[in-house]
Amino acid sequence: AQTLFVSAPGKVILHGEHAVVHGKAALAVAVNLRTFLKMAPRNDGKVSVELPNVGARLCWETSELQPLVVAFSADQTESQPPSPEQIEKLKEFAGFTNRAAATQSLATLAFLYLYLSIASKCGFMPSVDILVWSELPTGAGLGSSAAYSVCLAGALLSGCRVISYPLEEGQSVGRWPEEELAVINSWAFRGEQVIHGNPSGVDNAVGTRGGALRYQAGKICSLKSVPTLRILLTNTLVPRSTKVLVAGVKDKLMKFPAIMEPVLTSIDAISQECERVLEAMAARPSLEHYPVLEELIDVNQHLLSVVGVGHSSLDQVCQATASHGLHSKLTGAGGGGCAITLLRPDTAPSVVEAAIRDLSDCGFECWETDIGALG
Ligand code: MEV
Repeated sequence: AQTLFVSAPGKVILHGEHAVVHGKAALAVAVNLRTFLKMAPRNDGKVSVELPNVGARLCWETSELQPLVVAFSADQTESQPPSPEQIEKLKEFAGFTNRAAATQSLATLAFLYLYLSIASKCGFMPSVDILVWSELPTGAGLGSSAAYSVCLAGALLSGCRVISYPLEEGQSVGRWPEEELAVINSWAFRGEQVIHGNPSGVDNAVGTRGGALRYQAGKICSLKSVPTLRILLTNTLVPRSTKVLVAGVKDKLMKFPAIMEPVLTSIDAISQECERVLEAMAARPSLEHYPVLEELIDVNQHLLSVVGVGHSSLDQVCQATASHGLHSKLTGAGGGGCAITLLRPDTAPSVVEAAIRDLSDCGFECWETDIGALG
């Protein structure tokens, strides 16, 4: 047995948030803030998991997990979502009550679910040390739980030899072939279901495959080729409820259908136009595409304010970056949360530094990173 390393990117929505809830297209792209996993063999029959980002450190004897593996194999069929009974069993085992589970407890449940399900499938329980750490903030809509589930699925499936590990001794970068990515993605989706109940599957698809994808009416379609774009990612740290914001958009749509429906149709057209530009850029990289992308960002930010998901903190991001000639929009649910700012390949480091300084002065967290990253 060898030590395995796996990593997966987070995601941002480039265009189409909220509109996607009403059957329009959304473009989700991998963001190169990653989650990393190291899995090392141990020889004492124990399984340990350490998650420094959420302050969790867990250790079990594989013998105490054995009865659960048996229970899992009894009610498991391929591609079946985690059942409420399985989750109850895991909560009982881990000593969690029915209260709304904290991030730490959800991460533990997802680990136990994937470990037990994969162990029951392959017929043995690996004794391993697992360490997972992340550059992604949790609960910011950046797909941190999906990146976690993708890393766990990739490592456990490889460790249990359900799929092969694509790295030879001494190699530092490798990728799984498409068939194995599909297996990882389906298990990662089940991890996401443990954490989120009924997720769309977009986050784990981006975390597994990277690049960009279009999501519409429950269908996920990977874009063939996407350029890597530099961005600033800003977390305003303003808390918001996605549920409340989504409900607010629905109310507006019901109250003023003739006004709001065309706004959502416009957002849909922005996603389609952006997809065309990204494909053209991938085929023929040129700075001439940037003004188009910037204009689409500006227009969509205004439209999102019209549907009621703007926030003064997001306006501050737009103003602060505009003063340096940069273009920003909210990403995800809005009402605070995160924003993205497009950088050009030739945006000078001094401009980026000045923008980051201004955003930090507003009390925001800011990262320079890439979108369209590898899965
Ligand atoms: C939140 O990240 C994206 C929304 O479109 C909600 C959703 O798609 O479920 C606002």
